[in-house]
Amino acid sequence: MKDITIALAKGRLAKKALGIFEQIGITCDEMKDESSRKLIFTNEERKLKFFLAKATDVPTYVEYGAADIGIVGKDTIMEEARKLYEVIDLGIGRCRMCVAGPPQAKELLQHGALIRVATKYPRIARDYFYNKKHQTAEIIKLNGSIELAPIVGLSEVIVDIVETGSTLRENGLEVLEEICPLSARMVVNQVSMKMEHDRISDMIVRLRNIVQGQEGGRL
Ligand code: PRP
Repeated sequence: MKDITIALAKGRLAKKALGIFEQIGITCDEMKDESSRKLIFTNEERKLKFFLAKATDVPTYVEYGAADIGIVGKDTIMEEARKLYEVIDLGIGRCRMCVAGPPQAKELLQHGALIRVATKYPRIARDYFYNKKHQTAEIIKLNGSIELAPIVGLSEVIVDIVETGSTLRENGLEVLEEICPLSARMVVNQVSMKMEHDRISDMIVRLRNIVQGQEGGRL
C-alpha cells in the first residue's frame, strides 16, 4: 500500500489541523515537537506521511502530486488558483478577507475613483476591484505588515485578512468592505482522488462527521 502524503500549512493552522486528525484516530506525535527541525513525519501503521510547508506552497505541492492532500486557508487557495479539489471546510482558522483603511477612504470606494490597494493577495484584490466593483485600482504587492501601507501613504486602502480586528484598531484603520469569509480547507490532488479513492473518501467522510459535529455543538 502506498503512503498518502498530507501537507499542512505551517503555524497556527497546523496545530488545529492535527487536532482534527487526532479525532479520527490519526496521530503524529513526532510532529508536535516544536524544537525539531525534521520536515517530514511518518505514521507507519496508517501508511501516512505529514509535512509542514509554507502556506502559499501547499497548493503547489498538492497540484503536482508531491502531496495527495493539503490543509490550507481559503485565502491561499483563492490566491494560488491551482488545479485541485477543495473537499472540506474544516471550520478552523475562521477570519475574513476585507478591504480596510482609514475611515475617510470609504468615500473613495463609493465613487469609483482610481485607488491604490496594497496587499499580499494581488489576485483576490484584482478580482474584487476589477470584476466585482468595476473600479480602477492600482494593486501594490507587499509581503507582510500590510497595515503599514495606508499609514505611510503607500496606498489608500489594503486588502487583507481580519481575524480579531485588533491590528486594524491599533493602527487607526477599520474594515471598509468585506470580500469573503475564510477558513481552513482540505484540498486533494486530482489524480490521487481517483487512484486512492477509497482511502481518501473514507478520510473525507470521517473528517466531515467531526466538523459537522463541532458545528452542531456551537449552535
Ligand atoms: C495577519 C493579517 C493581519 C492580522 C490580522 O497578519 O495580515 O495583519 O493577521 O489579525 P487580527 O485581525 O487578529 O489583528 P500575520 O500575523 O499573518 O502577519 P503579516 O503581517 O506578516 O501578514
